[in-house]
Amino acid sequence: MNSLFDPYDLGPVHLKSRIVMPPMTRTRTSEGALPTDGDVPNALMAKYYGQRAGAGLIISEVNDVDQSSHGYARIPGIHSETQKQGWRVVTDEVHRQGGTIFMQLWHVGRLAHSSILPNGQTPVGVTGERAEGSEVFAHGADGRLRFMPVEAPRALATDEVAAMVETFAKAAANAREAGFDGVEIHAANGYLIEQFMNSVLNTRTDRYGGGDMEDRTRFLMEVVDAVVAEFGPGRIGVRLSPFGKYGSMPSDPLTEETFLYVVQQLGQRGVAYVHLLYELLPDGNMESAEFKPRHLDHALLAKARAAFPGAFIWCGGFTDREQAQASLDTGLVDLIAFGRPYIANPDLAQRLENGWPLAVADRSTYYTRDGEAGYTDFPAHSNDMANSSAA
Ligand code: PHB
Repeated sequence: MNSLFDPYDLGPVHLKSRIVMPPMTRTRTSEGALPTDGDVPNALMAKYYGQRAGAGLIISEVNDVDQSSHGYARIPGIHSETQKQGWRVVTDEVHRQGGTIFMQLWHVGRLAHSSILPNGQTPVGVTGERAEGSEVFAHGADGRLRFMPVEAPRALATDEVAAMVETFAKAAANAREAGFDGVEIHAANGYLIEQFMNSVLNTRTDRYGGGDMEDRTRFLMEVVDAVVAEFGPGRIGVRLSPFGKYGSMPSDPLTEETFLYVVQQLGQRGVAYVHLLYELLPDGNMESAEFKPRHLDHALLAKARAAFPGAFIWCGGFTDREQAQASLDTGLVDLIAFGRPYIANPDLAQRLENGWPLAVADRSTYYTRDGEAGYTDFPAHSNDMANSSAA
């Protein structure tokens, strides 16, 4: 049996263990000097990611592919030169510390608010249908940042969808130039790509929509092909959340067949891994204390495994070594992602391996702009011990 601490070859990328730090928004970006700079990565973020370079693979917090994909304030992007330079500082530090880092890319689609979009433009979506009940971090009427109900989007025109594919390709090229080892395409959680894949939501009548499986998944496949062409095969992952209801996604009777078709297609296109955020609860909100992913459906995953030659990453509430190892032992997944435990435990992999206790983060510091507090001020366990024995 493979251990969580065994190395893993993800295509051309050698990982020192099977422990993954998944994407987590932390809102520590700096404001760009120009509005077109977007929100910019900085030296503090380099320190944070560098501290966590002991993970087998780090996947960065999510990044906007262009200005129209800015769904939440303070989320970085990779569309401006300034952002590229900021991320270069981060990737250099992670590599200096011996780590491997991919960048996560998204377009939020209808999960957006005009108050943080360029020129107050209307959000775009697969159709004009609003994500009733969903909120994003944007400006209220008083100009202050708070959670605001999303607005009704404007449906992307067919040529705009094709142009969006090029936007993803350009973002991937920028990520490569900024020193990333690969990219992960966010096709989960109700954002733009998943909006296209959902057979209930996607009522378009052009070649990107309608009842046909190939049409509904065309946007994702074109993005994947363009990004693989930009970055080279083996360095691309795709995140999926079948059955997830995050972002007001309607229940889709075709979820299972779409999922199996998608993984089969991704395999043929040279995608290195599929990152599963498996089945959020119907009212699933990852930011609520009640959030718990449901059990992985082994029968479905076995079918997906047979259809996809690459790796599966499973992310979903893992907090300890035993749970993670038991999941690896099913033989259905290859890599395990630990999200929240990575916030307070920069040396999580070493702590798990040595049975050292885990620190717990304070939720109120997850999304602040308080600099180091609750971000880079968690010591590694061994330093902790050294400090306390020196005292
Ligand atoms: C998500 O992947 O669902 C997600 C990403 C970034 C956020 C919020 C949600 O800030």
